[in-house]
Amino acid sequence: MAQLIDGKKTAEGIVEKIAAEVEHLQFKPGLAVIIVGEDDASQVYVKNKVLKAKQCGFKSVKHHMDESTSQADLLYMIDSLNKDESIHGILVQLPLPAHIDAGAVIQAISSKKDVDGFHYLNAGMLATGAYEKALVPCTPYGVMYMLKQVHGDDMAGMEAVMIGHSNIVGKPMVQLLLNEECTVHICHKATRDVKKHAQQADILIVATGVPHLVKGDWIKKGATIIDVGINSVEIGDGRRRLVGDVDFDAAKEIAGAITPVPGGVGPMTIAMLMMNTLKAACVINNVDIPKI
Ligand code: GUN
Repeated sequence: MAQLIDGKKTAEGIVEKIAAEVEHLQFKPGLAVIIVGEDDASQVYVKNKVLKAKQCGFKSVKHHMDESTSQADLLYMIDSLNKDESIHGILVQLPLPAHIDAGAVIQAISSKKDVDGFHYLNAGMLATGAYEKALVPCTPYGVMYMLKQVHGDDMAGMEAVMIGHSNIVGKPMVQLLLNEECTVHICHKATRDVKKHAQQADILIVATGVPHLVKGDWIKKGATIIDVGINSVEIGDGRRRLVGDVDFDAAKEIAGAITPVPGGVGPMTIAMLMMNTLKAACVINNVDIPKI
């Protein structure tokens, strides 16, 4: 039976450590979250982010803008937050309504306050190995934190397989794995035989949004499995359940370590958003970034 990688507990520990560090700072880190429209899932995510920021002792602000908000008004809001000295992190919750160009909005956030790590400057710094200075996208950052809990600092030479190549997870994850000198394979929807690649993996990370894509016989004995998927599936009688992209029950019998869904990657993503806000605030204020 595999070791369970408890993201919920780890994330709680990170938030506690951040809160302790914040007490010693001469300034209060500030996070502003912008949500446009009424998407139910986004409302829940934003509520959690605002709450966690408060737990960390940050200034925590939510700007809820109407579904019909124009792109110009949203850009105006971002511009004022870029200039606001009490705010060090700005996050615009995605998806945005169709009439708004999400790419233009993301690039309008100051790269120093881009706590999502989506700005070209942060993506470029990560890709060229300047990751100490970069704000790294929260989900891959959290996955790497968990991998280090399992493997320590030496992952050099390990075979890592990333299934999924999104800008938010797959691509930045690959950069972090390369930084650790893993041998990295990237699979996506056009990959001919994903199972064959997965079977080689010492570290297998799955972010596809396909419930239970990865079966037990896709997994190498003793591998570390990180499941980024969160899928709501019907389980009869109109009831629903959250499952990952990995068949957890089968995988846990073969893997060496595995993240559950829920309680694995999800809580870590929010914890790393807090870490990025602390990091951004320290860089802006020219003080050393605390080691968490
Ligand atoms: N919507 C779903 N995931 C994310 C994320 O990581 N950042 C933002 N801004 N929106 C999201």
